[in-house]
Amino acid sequence: MIVISNCKNNKNELFDMSSLPQHLAIIMDGNGRWAKKKGFPRSMGHKEGAKAVKRVIASCLDFNIPILTIFAFSTENWKRPKKEIAYLLKLFESVLVKEKANLIRNNIKINFIGRLTDLPTPLNDKINELCESTKKNNRLILNIAVNYGGRAEIVDAINSIILKIDKKNLNIDKINEDTVSDNLYTYNLPDPDLLIRTAGEMRISNFMIWQTAYTEFWVTPVLWPDFDKKNLIEAIINFQKRVRKYGGKI
Ligand code: FPP
Repeated sequence: MIVISNCKNNKNELFDMSSLPQHLAIIMDGNGRWAKKKGFPRSMGHKEGAKAVKRVIASCLDFNIPILTIFAFSTENWKRPKKEIAYLLKLFESVLVKEKANLIRNNIKINFIGRLTDLPTPLNDKINELCESTKKNNRLILNIAVNYGGRAEIVDAINSIILKIDKKNLNIDKINEDTVSDNLYTYNLPDPDLLIRTAGEMRISNFMIWQTAYTEFWVTPVLWPDFDKKNLIEAIINFQKRVRKYGGKI
């Protein structure tokens, strides 16, 4: 147990290292607003957002949180101006190349979820290369959602189930919730325990809509490029006070 002093109410709070979320998911929002507030182009917000990603990965390593999923680009983000999309995709590519050695050194396994084949080939190649080079790592699974949509994921799961039935690899009478979970992009991961959304919006935005059925939510007004370890601790302390009933009675 670590005592953390809360500057907002001057009270000491307990941060329990033995009761951490095992799967942390984050909707990183507010890059554009951060840039606007400072009079910078939106691209600057995304660049600073990449630094916040590095910070949150370091915090997960410090706390031994084993799985982190971040929402980097949604199936709806293609509606943004072409220039911003091109900047974002190039930023992802350059971060993957620049951080490869660091990720390997820190024993991080990289996994991507989303409709990856629609991404530009150079980015797709870097994604495959990074997943291959880190596949045996086991300190932290960093799951990056790119061209990801929760509804698209469910549609893809339905198609995969139909294919298995067609090929007689699955009995149509045996379909249950586990069958759906097993055919999602996250088939090999537990559901998130805690979902953090930055920049204050109170919505799920098509992110892990199946997997978050019983996930605890934490929304903070902090814009993603400003998000730091202290903000993560605040979210986790609040998470540790929740009683998780999963619809049952405690
Ligand atoms: C939301 O801010 C953020 C995104 C759509 C992109 C997330 C990308 C990063 C954090 C960059 C680095 C990521 C990786 C994986 C290296 P917004 O643009 O929607 O902000 P706004 O709502 O204030 O306009």
